[in-house]
Amino acid sequence: MKKNKNIILIKKPENKLTPNCFSLVEEKLNLPRAGELLIKVKLLSIDAANRAWIQGATYRSAVSAGTVMPAYGIGEVISSNSNRFAEGDLVIGELNWAEYATKPDKFLTKVNKTTDLIDLLTYAGIAGLTAYHGLMDISKIRENDTILISTAAGSVGMFACQIAKLTGCKVLGLSGSADKCEWVESKLGIDKCLNYKDPTLTKNLKEVCPNGFDVYFDNVGGSLLEKILYLMKMKGRVTCCGAISQYDVGSLTPPRNIPGIIITRRLKLEGFIVTDFYNKKNKALKILSNWHRSGALKVFIDKYSGLESAPEALINLLSGKNSGKTIVEL
Ligand SMILES: NC(=O)c1ccc[n+]([C@@H]2O[C@H](COP(=O)([O-])OP(=O)(O)OC[C@H]3O[C@@H](n4cnc5c(N)ncnc54)[C@H](OP(=O)(O)O)[C@@H]3O)[C@@H](O)[C@H]2O)c1
Repeated sequence: MKKNKNIILIKKPENKLTPNCFSLVEEKLNLPRAGELLIKVKLLSIDAANRAWIQGATYRSAVSAGTVMPAYGIGEVISSNSNRFAEGDLVIGELNWAEYATKPDKFLTKVNKTTDLIDLLTYAGIAGLTAYHGLMDISKIRENDTILISTAAGSVGMFACQIAKLTGCKVLGLSGSADKCEWVESKLGIDKCLNYKDPTLTKNLKEVCPNGFDVYFDNVGGSLLEKILYLMKMKGRVTCCGAISQYDVGSLTPPRNIPGIIITRRLKLEGFIVTDFYNKKNKALKILSNWHRSGALKVFIDKYSGLESAPEALINLLSGKNSGKTIVEL
């Protein structure tokens, strides 16, 4: 009987995620029941959200200990028990950290075989669309806005930086080391990137932008968000895209003086999930594709090989070792 290699979340971490939270196990391959597909996994998207799913329920249910780790990815249909998909089709959607995933067809989308698969996990996928809709539909950025973007070197961040620059904004980024800040400035062409771990961050930001920020594109939350709220212009817009500082910790840390600083600065904070903009997706993809084709929107990937590397890839992303989009190729 054919076997399948799965990476199981064997326990939830009390603090930071560690390799011993996972175990690679060989199990019997589940054949597809009615409405299901058996998929050979080709590419896995490693996302900050994977850690949030382990912590608790988000826009999807929490991942329970003892179950296979789910992840967005692309694979090939090996066996179909659905009238929507045939053997040999490529599909994208929620798969697993596994060689093979058996999934219901209703959550999967067929991929055109001529499409570059990396595109679908980068600018033409969740990362690019999150950056685009966050900036255009929530931040409502305009030419000459001064915008600050956190996790600037990461997958959503690198697209947010480039899109804001292409829209004519003055763009500042935040990243976790001098080397990554240099990478952001040289590869993404923004005006300045500063190390958020620097104890003089507030002073450093004030030196570069003495009048403050029109927009903060926040991927971090926590105490960094608190610091930045004090640097916003009157009526500034804060786009709450993610809260990575709160995903890989045992207990949550607050931003203090909420809503005090929001009231006195007349700030607007608004959160979103990329799927909120499903109806506007095609227009966004057209714009993102045109920018990419012209060379104006660049893609950087941090690629790992082999299923076994998935835990390391996620742990490295959480500790800031990645620059660009983290992908595991099987
Ligand atoms: N709203 C939505 O629909 C949506 C969709 C996709 C993603 N997101 C959000 O976008 C954010 C980025 O996700 P991603 O998957 O693209 O990951 P990513 O940016 O590629 O990687 C995460 C980065 O976060 C930074 N980081 C880690 N811990 C941090 C901390 N305590 N404080 C500040 N920065 C920290 C690290 O870089 P440095 O420390 O070196 O800067 C790391 O490289 C996440 O918050 C995620 O939840 C939201």
